[in-house]
Parts: sequence; structure tokens; C-alpha cells
Amino acid sequence: MNREQELALGDRLMALFTDGPSPADGAPVAVPASVYTCPDRHRAELAAIAARPVAALHGTEIPGAGDFRAIELGGLPLLVVRGRDGVVRALVNACAHRGATVEREAEGTARAFSCSFHGWSYELDGTLRSVADAALFSSAPCGRGLRSVPCEERHGVIWVTTDPDPAPRSVAEWLGADLDALLTMLGFGEAVFYAAVEYDVACNWKLLTDGFLELYHLKYLHRTTIAPYLPANSWLVDRYGEHFRVAIPKNRLGRHLAASARDEWELWSDLSLPVVLMPGSVLQWQAGHYEVFSFRPDPNDPGRTRCRLSMLVPADRADEHELWERNWERVRVTIPDEDFAVAEQVQRNIASGAVRELQIGRNEQGLVDHLAAVDRLVAEVARR
Ligand code: FES
Ligand SMILES: [Fe+2]
Repeated sequence: MNREQELALGDRLMALFTDGPSPADGAPVAVPASVYTCPDRHRAELAAIAARPVAALHGTEIPGAGDFRAIELGGLPLLVVRGRDGVVRALVNACAHRGATVEREAEGTARAFSCSFHGWSYELDGTLRSVADAALFSSAPCGRGLRSVPCEERHGVIWVTTDPDPAPRSVAEWLGADLDALLTMLGFGEAVFYAAVEYDVACNWKLLTDGFLELYHLKYLHRTTIAPYLPANSWLVDRYGEHFRVAIPKNRLGRHLAASARDEWELWSDLSLPVVLMPGSVLQWQAGHYEVFSFRPDPNDPGRTRCRLSMLVPADRADEHELWERNWERVRVTIPDEDFAVAEQVQRNIASGAVRELQIGRNEQGLVDHLAAVDRLVAEVARR
């Protein structure tokens, strides 16, 4: 984002403070409850999610050669490991011999991986290193190593695409030039991992992403936690290709903008900026620290989602423990206690038949655009 674009965003934020929100004309849109419960739709969405990168881990969680994490994405068991060449790979954690789990630890540092069933071993890049009693096993060489899926480290995040067919675009291409530049400008690539937590949430994954796209709920759901710091009904959603950038000003931004000349405006210390990456990852600038969310829908149940939330901090301020601990405490409690809890209520009421359709107001246009973006991805993957 260049300075002109930053000032133009400042103008729009300033208008929120001076003129209030200006929603588009129109009546509420009715969304059928089945959008959040239909198993066929869920299967199609899973295919769309598998075809795009997901924020799996942060690069500083596995900083050294041989550092690994065993994770599950889209139902696939994966070993995310940094090789001796510094490159991070996502290997399928299932032996090329007869399919046993190769690495059974959740995390650690390995020189190689060895399968406990018949002792085959693999290099950090997944190539087959040795076959136990090789001459007995076969007279021909067994060249097959561990399968891998596309994996790329960019902006500090390790992005994994579980469906490699056709070969996915690079992360930079998928983000598009504007969002790629925005994440660079915000310094995501220089941040370091602080903490992570995973939640099982009993709702459809789209209800979780929706939470970033409207702040209509702020003064009710977050009445005592976040609302005191933010102006009500004040946020901007902009579409970038298949993604969304949301800008959420704090009260003090209004004061700062009003008190300084336009060419001296500085937005970033008084602004939350969730970048909703379709489908299923959110990178959020939080006026000082960074949050990465990934929403991993249950492979079988449209009403369940695993959410990984991690917090990153600027590398040059990583030792400000008290501040970061306070922020982390707030984030990891407020989001599940308030946003996730209400999303679970909605899912329960939909699943019980109590609710047949949701009404989305003109001030919640981001949700309509989000559903349209999901539909476009589903249609694109179905055409393959
Ligand atoms: S299944 Fe791994 S060595 Fe046989
Ligand atoms: Fe919220």
C-alpha cells in the first residue's frame, strides 16, 4: 500500500467518525439455513478449501533444520518439516511401504524419520533413505519416498495446499499484488511466533469467518470487552480478488485524525486490519501484534470446525512479555467466550430446525459478499 492509498483509507475512516456509516440501499438478503448444514454443500466446500493455501503454522515455530510439527489438514496427516536446505515441506505422514504413521511425535527435531512398523527411514525432504533388510524385500531398488503436498513460506506463515491437482499458484499470486504488498508493509514477515491455541468449535466454518466481516455485533456481543475501545457500526470491507480486507478503527484513531494534518496521518497504531483470505485463513494486524487464524472444517460434519489461532509479535519487541501476555490473554479468552459461543448457538438453532433462514442486512454486506466468494470458489473447483 502506498502513501496515497493509505491517506485515501484515512479519508474513508475519518468519514466514519464524522458522517457515520453509509450502508448501500436494499432490503435484507435471506440465506437458507442449509448453507451451514448441507452435507453435499460441505463436501463441495471442502474441495474448494483443499485447492487453496491454508495458514498451517508459523515459520518461527520450526526455525531449525529437522524441526517438525505433525498436523492434520483436510483430513490428511502431515509432517511439516524444515529441511537441511532451510526449505519447509509438508510430507504426508504415512509410510510408502504399507501406510503406517511414520512420525508419531506431535513435534520435535529429527535427523531423519523412521517408521516403527518395519523400520524404513526417510530423509527430512521425504526421500527414502533406507529399506530394512532391503535385499530380502526386493531385488529392485524401491525409490518411493513420502508423498508431499505444496507448501510455501511467505510473510512468515507456512502455507499448505492439500489438493495438489492441478498445481496451485504461488502464495503471492493467490494473494494478489495489493494484499501481498499490504502484508509486507505491515511486517508480517518479520514477526515471530508468540503462542498458539486450537479450539474445536461446534459450528460451520463460514460462521467463524463471518465474525471478521461485520462489526454490527460489537456493542452487544462485545459490550464489556472490545466495544469500549471501538466506535459502534464503524468498519470498512474491501474486496481484493477472492479475498477481503477489513479496516476497524479504534476510538482514538478518530481523535488522532482530527488532531493532525492529513499529510501527517498515521493509521496503523489505531487500526485493526483483518485480511480474510479465501477460504479459511485470516491474518489480522492488531495495532501492535499479529494474529493468524485458520479454520479447518471437519471432513465429515458441516457443523464442526477446528480453529487454530496464533499470535505473533514484532521480532524487535519480542521481550515485552507483560504486554504480549496481556494481549494474548484477551485474545484467547474473548474470541471463544463471545464470538465462538454465539456461532455455536446459531449452528444449534439452525440444525434443530428452529431457524430456516438467516436475514443479512444491508449493513452486513460483507457476509453476502463472503458467501458469493465461497460459491465462486466452489463453482471453479467443480468445473475442473
Ligand atoms: S509400513 Fe512403514 S516400514 Fe512398513
Ligand atoms: Fe466479534
